[in-house]
Amino acid sequence: MTTTENASSTYDLERAANDPERILEYSVWNDDVTSLIHAVEDNAEAIFTWRYDKGERARLDRLYEKAKTSQWNGQTDLDWSIDVDPYNMLAPANPLEADYFSKNPDSPLHKLNEKEWAELGVESLNWSLSQFMHGEQGALLCTAKIVETVPWIDAKYYAATQVVDEARHVEVFAQYLDQKMGGINYPCNTHLGLLLDDILEDSRWDMTYLGMQIMVEGLALAAFAFMHETTEEPLLKKLLRYVMSDEARHVAFGVLSLQEIYGELTVAELRERQEFAFEAALRMRDRFLRQEVWERIGVPVEDMVRHQLAMPEELQVFQRLLFSKIVPNCKKLGLLDAGDGWLRDRFTDIGVIEFENWVDTGEEYADLDEVAKDRAAASA
Ligand SMILES: [Fe+2]
Ligand SMILES: [Fe+2]
Repeated sequence: MTTTENASSTYDLERAANDPERILEYSVWNDDVTSLIHAVEDNAEAIFTWRYDKGERARLDRLYEKAKTSQWNGQTDLDWSIDVDPYNMLAPANPLEADYFSKNPDSPLHKLNEKEWAELGVESLNWSLSQFMHGEQGALLCTAKIVETVPWIDAKYYAATQVVDEARHVEVFAQYLDQKMGGINYPCNTHLGLLLDDILEDSRWDMTYLGMQIMVEGLALAAFAFMHETTEEPLLKKLLRYVMSDEARHVAFGVLSLQEIYGELTVAELRERQEFAFEAALRMRDRFLRQEVWERIGVPVEDMVRHQLAMPEELQVFQRLLFSKIVPNCKKLGLLDAGDGWLRDRFTDIGVIEFENWVDTGEEYADLDEVAKDRAAASA
C-alpha cells in the first residue's frame, strides 16, 4: 500500500499544500450515485482452528463476555419519535476555521450569505454522517473477514460479536439519515473508499486489524466523540454515545490481538506496519475534504481543496484531535518505537506526538460503556 518515499513526501504538508499534482489528486470526488454494489477481492484464506479452548487468551475472552452483555437494539433503545431540525443541531465544528474561510477574500466561501452557510452546515453534517455509515459498512466487512482469517478461537468468538455491532451501526446511521436528515445524500468519499478497499484487499490478517481496528476505528472514535460534544440534538447524541461504547471495545480488540503477534515480527515486518499505519493516518486526515459537498453546492472543488490544505496549522485543531486515539494505541502496540523509531519521528513531524501518553483504548473501553451504565441505572 505504501512506500517510505510516499509517506515521507506527504508529511511536509505546508510544502505539499501547493503541489498542484497533490491538489489534483485530492480533488477527486465520487460522482457515482447509481451503482448499487462495489466488489473487492479479499485475497485471504478462511481458517478453521481445531483448538477450541475458550479462554486460552484471557483478555480476549473477557472482552467477548463483555460484548455479549453490552448489546443494544437500535430500534428500541433509541427514541426515534424525537423531532430533528437539521438546521439547528451542531455548533460550528471550529469557529476559527469558519472565520478563516468566510473572511479570506480568496476563499471560495468568501461570498456565501447566511442562508448559504446554513445550507453548507446541513450538507456537511449529511456528508459526515454518510461517511460514518459507509465506514461502518467497511468495518462490518472487515470484521467478517477477521472471523474467517484469525487463527484463534477466542478472537473468532469476539469478532463475531463485532459483526453484530457493526451491522447495528450501519443500521442506525442509515436510519438517522433517512428519517431525520432528508436521506442519504452522499456516496462513499473516493479516498475513504480507496482506503477501505486497500485494507480489505491485504492478504495478511493482522493488516485488517491494523487498518480497521486501530486506524479507521481509532479515528472514528475520536470523530464520534467530537460530534457528540458539539451536538445538542438528543437522538444523535445518544446514538453516537452508544456507538462509541461499542467502538471502544473494537479498538481494544485490535490492541489486545496485535500486541501478541507484533512480539513475534522482525524489525523489517514491523516497519511495514509502521508505514501502513502512517499512510492510513495521513489519508484519513488530508483527503476527506468534503469534496462531494463542494461539488454539490457548486463551489470549485480544486480551489476549496487548495484552501483547506493551506489552512494555518493552529486552526487544524480537529485534524490533530483525530490522532488522540491512534497515537497512544500505536504506542501501546510498540509500533511507535519499533526499529529506529520511524513512526515516532513521523508523528513528531506532523505535530501529534503530544498524544502518546493519552489513555489508550485497551484500557478505556469499560469507562466508555454507556449501555451498561444505563442498564444499571434502569435496574437500580
Ligand atoms: Fe462501528
Ligand atoms: Fe467498530
